[in-house]
Amino acid sequence: MKNILRIKDLSYQVEDKKILNNINLQIESGQYVTFIGPSGSGKSTLMRIIASMITATSGDVIFDGQSIQKYDPIQYRQRVSYAFQQPTLFGKTVKDNLEFPFLVRNKEFVEKKAVSALEMVNLDESYINKSVNDISGGEKQRIALLRNLLFKPEILITDEVTTGLDTENKEIVHQMLTKFNQDEQMTILRVTHDESEIKNAIKTITIKDGEIV
Ligand SMILES: Nc1ncnc2c1ncn2[C@@H]1O[C@H](COP(=O)(O)OP(=O)(O)O)[C@@H](O)[C@H]1O
Ligand SMILES: [Mg+2]
Repeated sequence: MKNILRIKDLSYQVEDKKILNNINLQIESGQYVTFIGPSGSGKSTLMRIIASMITATSGDVIFDGQSIQKYDPIQYRQRVSYAFQQPTLFGKTVKDNLEFPFLVRNKEFVEKKAVSALEMVNLDESYINKSVNDISGGEKQRIALLRNLLFKPEILITDEVTTGLDTENKEIVHQMLTKFNQDEQMTILRVTHDESEIKNAIKTITIKDGEIV
Protein backbone atom coordinates (compact mmCIF):
# COMPACT_ATOMS: atom_id res chain seq x y z
CA MET A 1 0.00 0.00 0.00
CA LYS A 2 1.23 3.49 -0.74
CA ASN A 3 1.92 6.06 1.94
CA ILE A 4 -0.86 8.60 1.74
CA LEU A 5 0.53 10.67 4.61
CA ARG A 6 3.99 11.18 5.96
CA ILE A 7 4.81 13.37 8.95
CA LYS A 8 8.42 14.46 9.16
CA ASP A 9 10.13 15.87 12.28
CA LEU A 10 7.01 17.81 13.10
CA SER A 11 6.87 20.17 16.08
CA TYR A 12 4.36 22.75 17.20
CA GLN A 13 5.21 25.41 19.69
CA VAL A 14 3.23 28.31 21.12
CA GLU A 15 5.52 30.94 22.63
CA ASP A 16 7.89 28.86 24.77
CA LYS A 17 5.50 25.89 25.16
CA LYS A 18 6.24 22.84 23.04
CA ILE A 19 2.89 21.17 22.29
CA LEU A 20 4.19 18.62 19.76
CA ASN A 21 7.78 17.49 19.70
CA ASN A 22 9.46 15.84 16.72
CA ILE A 23 6.61 13.66 15.46
CA ASN A 24 7.45 11.17 12.71
CA LEU A 25 4.74 9.02 11.24
CA GLN A 26 3.70 7.23 8.10
CA ILE A 27 0.13 6.35 7.26
CA GLU A 28 -0.70 3.98 4.46
CA SER A 29 -3.66 4.51 2.21
CA GLY A 30 -6.69 2.62 3.56
CA GLN A 31 -5.44 2.33 7.15
CA TYR A 32 -7.73 2.86 10.14
CA VAL A 33 -5.52 4.38 12.81
CA THR A 34 -6.65 5.21 16.33
CA PHE A 35 -4.83 7.92 18.28
CA ILE A 36 -4.96 7.66 22.03
CA GLY A 37 -3.27 9.33 24.99
CA PRO A 38 -4.02 11.56 27.95
CA SER A 39 -6.08 14.70 27.62
CA GLY A 40 -3.86 17.64 26.72
CA SER A 41 -1.18 15.46 25.13
CA GLY A 42 -1.50 17.11 21.72
CA LYS A 43 -3.78 14.77 19.75
CA SER A 44 -6.17 17.45 18.50
CA THR A 45 -3.28 19.77 17.71
CA LEU A 46 -1.73 17.07 15.53
CA MET A 47 -5.07 16.41 13.79
CA ARG A 48 -5.58 20.13 13.14
CA ILE A 49 -2.13 20.30 11.57
CA ILE A 50 -2.85 17.27 9.38
CA ALA A 51 -6.18 18.88 8.40
CA SER A 52 -4.31 22.07 7.43
CA MET A 53 -6.25 24.18 9.91
CA ILE A 54 -3.07 25.25 11.68
CA THR A 55 0.54 25.08 10.53
CA ALA A 56 3.38 23.25 12.25
CA THR A 57 6.18 25.48 13.57
CA SER A 58 8.74 23.06 12.15
CA GLY A 59 8.79 19.89 10.12
CA ASP A 60 6.41 18.92 7.38
CA VAL A 61 3.33 16.93 6.45
CA ILE A 62 3.49 15.19 3.08
CA PHE A 63 0.13 14.25 1.62
CA ASP A 64 -0.06 12.27 -1.62
CA GLY A 65 3.54 13.05 -2.45
CA GLN A 66 3.81 16.73 -1.67
CA SER A 67 3.91 19.11 1.26
CA ILE A 68 0.46 20.19 2.41
CA GLN A 69 1.69 23.80 2.21
CA LYS A 70 1.60 23.42 -1.56
CA TYR A 71 -2.09 22.58 -1.77
CA ASP A 72 -4.88 25.09 -2.00
CA PRO A 73 -6.41 24.87 1.52
CA ILE A 74 -9.99 24.67 0.28
CA GLN A 75 -9.21 21.82 -2.08
CA TYR A 76 -7.02 20.12 0.49
CA ARG A 77 -9.84 20.08 3.04
CA GLN A 78 -12.03 18.27 0.53
CA ARG A 79 -9.45 15.52 0.37
CA VAL A 80 -8.59 15.50 4.07
CA SER A 81 -11.70 16.15 6.11
CA TYR A 82 -11.84 16.89 9.84
CA ALA A 83 -14.85 16.03 11.98
CA PHE A 84 -15.01 17.90 15.28
CA GLN A 85 -15.93 16.58 18.69
CA GLN A 86 -18.57 19.24 19.22
CA PRO A 87 -20.35 19.65 15.94
CA THR A 88 -22.27 22.81 15.29
CA LEU A 89 -25.08 22.65 12.84
CA PHE A 90 -25.65 25.95 11.10
CA GLY A 91 -28.56 27.57 9.33
CA LYS A 92 -32.12 26.60 10.16
CA THR A 93 -32.66 23.11 8.86
CA VAL A 94 -30.84 19.83 8.36
CA LYS A 95 -31.01 20.58 4.64
CA ASP A 96 -28.99 23.79 5.12
CA ASN A 97 -26.21 21.63 6.51
CA LEU A 98 -26.32 18.94 3.87
CA GLU A 99 -26.44 21.56 1.11
CA PHE A 100 -23.19 23.07 2.28
CA PRO A 101 -20.81 20.43 0.84
CA PHE A 102 -22.47 20.95 -2.57
CA LEU A 103 -22.18 24.74 -2.31
CA VAL A 104 -18.45 24.74 -1.55
CA ARG A 105 -17.93 22.60 -4.63
CA ASN A 106 -20.10 24.83 -6.82
CA LYS A 107 -22.44 21.93 -7.33
CA GLU A 108 -26.16 21.86 -7.45
CA PHE A 109 -27.77 20.29 -4.40
CA VAL A 110 -28.97 16.74 -5.05
CA GLU A 111 -31.66 16.01 -2.50
CA LYS A 112 -31.68 12.30 -3.33
CA LYS A 113 -28.02 12.06 -2.41
CA ALA A 114 -28.64 13.89 0.88
CA VAL A 115 -31.54 11.58 1.70
CA SER A 116 -29.53 8.43 1.06
CA ALA A 117 -26.77 9.86 3.24
CA LEU A 118 -29.31 10.37 6.03
CA GLU A 119 -30.50 6.80 5.61
CA MET A 120 -26.93 5.62 6.00
CA VAL A 121 -27.03 6.94 9.58
CA ASN A 122 -30.53 5.60 10.28
CA LEU A 123 -32.36 8.90 9.76
CA ASP A 124 -35.32 8.84 7.42
CA GLU A 125 -36.08 11.39 4.73
CA SER A 126 -38.33 13.45 7.03
CA TYR A 127 -35.15 14.71 8.70
CA ILE A 128 -34.15 16.77 5.70
CA ASN A 129 -36.63 19.53 6.53
CA LYS A 130 -36.33 19.34 10.29
CA SER A 131 -35.19 22.34 12.25
CA VAL A 132 -31.69 22.01 13.73
CA ASN A 133 -33.31 22.87 17.07
CA ASP A 134 -35.54 19.80 16.97
CA ILE A 135 -32.93 17.06 16.81
CA SER A 136 -31.00 15.30 19.54
CA GLY A 137 -27.28 15.47 20.22
CA GLY A 138 -26.67 12.04 18.73
CA GLU A 139 -28.59 12.95 15.59
CA LYS A 140 -26.64 16.20 15.33
CA GLN A 141 -23.33 14.37 15.49
CA ARG A 142 -24.46 11.92 12.79
CA ILE A 143 -25.66 14.74 10.52
CA ALA A 144 -22.45 16.70 11.09
CA LEU A 145 -20.46 13.63 10.02
CA LEU A 146 -22.46 13.44 6.81
CA ARG A 147 -21.15 16.89 5.89
CA ASN A 148 -17.68 15.29 5.90
CA LEU A 149 -18.85 12.23 3.99
CA LEU A 150 -21.33 13.38 1.32
CA PHE A 151 -18.34 13.78 -0.97
CA LYS A 152 -15.83 11.18 0.04
CA PRO A 153 -12.53 12.50 1.35
CA GLU A 154 -9.39 10.42 0.97
CA ILE A 155 -8.64 10.87 4.65
CA LEU A 156 -11.30 11.32 7.31
CA ILE A 157 -10.17 12.57 10.71
CA THR A 158 -12.63 12.01 13.54
CA ASP A 159 -11.70 13.78 16.76
CA GLU A 160 -13.62 12.24 19.67
CA VAL A 161 -16.81 12.27 17.61
CA THR A 162 -18.49 9.58 19.69
CA THR A 163 -17.82 11.22 23.05
CA GLY A 164 -21.13 11.70 24.82
CA LEU A 165 -23.10 9.52 22.40
CA ASP A 166 -25.19 6.61 23.70
CA THR A 167 -24.34 3.05 22.72
CA GLU A 168 -26.81 2.97 19.84
CA ASN A 169 -25.54 6.19 18.27
CA LYS A 170 -21.95 5.07 18.76
CA GLU A 171 -22.70 1.82 16.99
CA ILE A 172 -24.24 3.62 14.00
CA VAL A 173 -21.13 5.79 13.70
CA HIS A 174 -18.80 2.78 14.06
CA GLN A 175 -20.62 0.82 11.37
CA MET A 176 -20.62 3.74 8.97
CA LEU A 177 -16.90 4.42 9.41
CA THR A 178 -15.99 0.75 9.13
CA LYS A 179 -17.99 0.54 5.92
CA PHE A 180 -16.22 3.55 4.37
CA ASN A 181 -12.88 2.14 5.43
CA GLN A 182 -13.54 -1.37 4.14
CA ASP A 183 -15.65 -0.72 1.06
CA GLU A 184 -14.13 2.54 -0.14
CA GLN A 185 -10.59 2.17 1.24
CA MET A 186 -11.01 5.51 3.00
CA THR A 187 -8.11 6.25 5.33
CA ILE A 188 -9.40 7.07 8.80
CA LEU A 189 -7.54 8.79 11.62
CA ARG A 190 -9.59 8.54 14.79
CA VAL A 191 -8.93 10.21 18.12
CA THR A 192 -10.73 8.58 21.01
CA HIS A 193 -10.61 7.80 24.69
CA ASP A 194 -13.53 5.37 24.47
CA GLU A 195 -12.51 2.04 26.03
CA SER A 196 -14.43 -0.17 23.60
CA GLU A 197 -13.12 1.74 20.58
CA ILE A 198 -9.56 1.34 21.87
CA LYS A 199 -10.14 -2.36 22.51
CA ASN A 200 -11.43 -2.92 18.97
CA ALA A 201 -8.87 -0.71 17.26
CA ILE A 202 -6.81 -2.25 14.47
CA LYS A 203 -3.80 0.00 15.01
CA THR A 204 -3.23 2.48 17.82
CA ILE A 205 -0.72 5.28 18.19
CA THR A 206 -0.21 6.78 21.63
CA ILE A 207 0.68 10.42 22.11
CA LYS A 208 2.01 11.60 25.45
CA ASP A 209 3.35 15.04 26.26
CA GLY A 210 3.45 15.89 22.57
CA GLU A 211 5.43 12.82 21.54
CA ILE A 212 4.65 9.42 20.06
CA VAL A 213 5.39 6.79 22.66
N1 LIG B 1 -3.04 27.72 20.32
C1 LIG B 1 -2.67 27.27 21.52
N2 LIG B 1 -2.10 28.09 22.42
C2 LIG B 1 -1.71 27.62 23.61
N3 LIG B 1 -1.83 26.37 24.02
C3 LIG B 1 -2.41 25.50 23.16
C4 LIG B 1 -2.85 25.89 21.88
N4 LIG B 1 -3.37 24.81 21.26
C5 LIG B 1 -3.25 23.79 22.13
N5 LIG B 1 -2.66 24.19 23.27
C6 LIG B 1 -2.32 23.35 24.42
O1 LIG B 1 -1.65 22.22 23.89
C7 LIG B 1 -1.90 21.07 24.66
C8 LIG B 1 -2.45 19.98 23.78
O2 LIG B 1 -3.80 20.27 23.42
P1 LIG B 1 -4.67 19.30 22.51
O3 LIG B 1 -3.96 19.10 21.23
O4 LIG B 1 -6.03 19.88 22.46
O5 LIG B 1 -4.64 17.95 23.36
P2 LIG B 1 -5.59 16.66 23.31
O6 LIG B 1 -6.41 16.75 22.08
O7 LIG B 1 -4.64 15.51 23.32
O8 LIG B 1 -6.42 16.70 24.54
C9 LIG B 1 -2.84 21.50 25.78
O9 LIG B 1 -2.08 21.77 26.92
C10 LIG B 1 -3.45 22.77 25.19
O10 LIG B 1 -3.88 23.61 26.24
MG1 LIG C 1 -8.50 16.78 21.78
